[in-house]
Amino acid sequence: MTLAPAPAFAQQEKKEPVDCTQVKCIALTFDDGPGKYAGTLLDTLKKYDAKATFFLEGQYVKSRPAYVKRMAAEGHELGNHSYSHPDFTKIEAGAVKNEIQKTQDAVKKAAGVEPKLLRPPYGMADLATSDVAAEFGMPMILWTAGSQDWSSKNVEAIQKQTLAVAKPNGIILMHDWVKQTVDGMPALIKTLKNKGYHLVTVSDVIKNEKLEPGDIFPVPAGWEQ
Ligand code: NI
Repeated sequence: MTLAPAPAFAQQEKKEPVDCTQVKCIALTFDDGPGKYAGTLLDTLKKYDAKATFFLEGQYVKSRPAYVKRMAAEGHELGNHSYSHPDFTKIEAGAVKNEIQKTQDAVKKAAGVEPKLLRPPYGMADLATSDVAAEFGMPMILWTAGSQDWSSKNVEAIQKQTLAVAKPNGIILMHDWVKQTVDGMPALIKTLKNKGYHLVTVSDVIKNEKLEPGDIFPVPAGWEQ
């Protein structure tokens, strides 16, 4: 791999330090993007001063790099969600490595930063996946609950489900390719804030978990260390 000279990027916005042991935090996470509604979502997040985490798919980082650059510049966290979304438990370790590396490279090229968190596609991981994640120095981050947005595709249902599963230090699975998720985001953020939540990144809510590279969080049922 040849390292190109780092391009000059706008300085990242300073994040307000949020202590999630002292205040109510929640991490909204958006998978498989940047999706085509990412720009509208970023506008909403900016308007309400909310931070989010994007688990990006390398192939879309390549086709929509401007969104990725903007995500980083506006203080959101960027995670790795593979290049083409295969089930990591069904492909060889070498192929998993390739999926992760290509996405790291694409994000670096687009935004000048490298993801430090991995979310395996479908949340599917095994010990071999864990070994590869460890090689990249990344813990694997799943979610505490889902918004079911990809299934309901309904603004009210997405809001209702998200509020039903919201909890302090929750990590919520959503998708920025679901139009209804993005359409309902202003109202959802307002409601979460009214309930006292600070919308922060995954790294903010896992700060005290002391995760090591290759660890999985939350630990899924049936996971053997
Ligand atoms: Ni996905």
